[in-house]
Amino acid sequence: MKKLLFLLLLSSNLTFSQFTDINIIKEVRTKDKGLVVSAHPLASEAGAKILRMGGNAYDAVIATQLALAVVYPQAGNLGGGGFLVGVKNSGEKFTIDFRETAPEKSSGDMYLDKKGNANTDLSQNGRLAVGVPGSVAGFFATLKHAKLPMEKLLQPAIDLAEQGFSLTEKEAGLLNSQMEYFNQHNKTMTVFQQKEQWKQGDILVQKDLALTLKLIQQNGAKGFYEGKTAELIIAEMKRGNGIITLKDLKNYKVAERKPIVFDYKGNEIVSMPLPSSGGILLAQMLKMSGFENLEKYKHNSGEAVQIMVEAERRAFADRAEYMGDPDFINDKTQLLISDEYLKSRWKSFDKNLATRSSEVGKIIPQPKESTETTHISILDKEGNAVAVTTTLNGLYGSKVVVTGAGFFLNNEMDDFSVKPGVPNMFGAVGGEANSIKPGKRMLSSMTPTIVLKNGKPFIIVGTPGGTTIPTSVYQSIVNVIDFKLSPNMSVNAPKFHHQWLPENVLVERHFPETTIKALEKKNYKLERVSQIGRTEMIVIDEKGNAVAVADGRGDDSVGVE
Ligand code: GLY
Repeated sequence: MKKLLFLLLLSSNLTFSQFTDINIIKEVRTKDKGLVVSAHPLASEAGAKILRMGGNAYDAVIATQLALAVVYPQAGNLGGGGFLVGVKNSGEKFTIDFRETAPEKSSGDMYLDKKGNANTDLSQNGRLAVGVPGSVAGFFATLKHAKLPMEKLLQPAIDLAEQGFSLTEKEAGLLNSQMEYFNQHNKTMTVFQQKEQWKQGDILVQKDLALTLKLIQQNGAKGFYEGKTAELIIAEMKRGNGIITLKDLKNYKVAERKPIVFDYKGNEIVSMPLPSSGGILLAQMLKMSGFENLEKYKHNSGEAVQIMVEAERRAFADRAEYMGDPDFINDKTQLLISDEYLKSRWKSFDKNLATRSSEVGKIIPQPKESTETTHISILDKEGNAVAVTTTLNGLYGSKVVVTGAGFFLNNEMDDFSVKPGVPNMFGAVGGEANSIKPGKRMLSSMTPTIVLKNGKPFIIVGTPGGTTIPTSVYQSIVNVIDFKLSPNMSVNAPKFHHQWLPENVLVERHFPETTIKALEKKNYKLERVSQIGRTEMIVIDEKGNAVAVADGRGDDSVGVE
């Protein structure tokens, strides 16, 4: 019956938004069709629809992000930012950095109280937490690699916003869990608030958001960064303690940066450079565990996990000390990923005992972890690949919706070290390299990555999860390359995470008890958590057979051309 309705839908003028029985597809194998993997079935379908209309991977990724801004407001966004890594069938490799920037009126001490203590409530919630959004500029920078006009790429999102879509159980629950914060941080009633509890199947209609999308359709990026939308953002800033100005919005620019490219066991890894720490951390971790021939151990065995945790410990200590916006710091990337440096870093590895974090960097206590953001992996039938990770930072960002424009604003300012040594909401400690300066981009962990074999896409991968992003991407890649797991198991097998501080190692439920015991004997402190990340992965073999896997931990779904 579901299949029949699905076919009916494809052959009719009905849009997915009118269809309440949402079809989540977790794995697809195909050869000659494009594939889109994202956090939401309607967004994956929006991307797939664009591929069917003749668009390429870059068209599809714009449409998918726009649809996520409607159907996945917890992280999909117009009011946030992110990173894109692309590899074209011509071999061209490129990145687009559409990370938010610190407003002109920001300063290094803007979140410190009179005693010099960091007030993280201000960097995490409300209008002062907002960085200048980069996503819309990112869509237009991507357009030069695409084939279709932006007008067409916006239409699926406009339909979803105007006509509404039905909430999944998870989305309804998440909206209910945040209602108190929406009430606290919004002066006018938003479409996300209601007196009764949201339920699965409720229809969420977003008329204001549809109007904003239409302004972008009519006026291009200026439909967001200038004119009515910009004025509505500024009016929202003035309803509280926001500092973003019209000039900040007008001056926002993406940065097109050279990707980090390095060899891993004959595969070419292409990932995101600073201001995301993701690519550097990935290179450091893969290279350090490479010194121990990881492939000779079993997946999630005590030996393999210990090696990987120790690689993670050393990489995250470097993150805190050296990493930040490359336009503002002395960029040490080449040194940090060099074999010579990493060999010296690895000398203290002891296979019989956990390294203390104090031996690889100065100890500072750390609070909680959190896991938001969203990732898209796409392959088109012409062999173009793209990986995008995009975010509002926390769940629904700052919780502030722009009145009249209908979208959430980010709380990305919290990714700066608001006071060097004081950890952000993901528990990451930043040093001076990541201090706040006007126009500067805050350090990120997002790790959109494409692995090439013989110059062709082999793995397209990424995940949300704050500081767990680089470690999840790392595990997903070694799961395929070293442990020879299937794409499905590479995504869904239990993951673990360590980040130098705190000292403990997070393990997902169902993590093997024998491994936990073996690690505890070596002095590791383990902490069980319900889930880590939501990885979207496409793996392509040398004959061009592709397998797309949407993480089983959420509503994530594959769209097929
Ligand atoms: N805000 C999440 C990240 O940038 O990694």
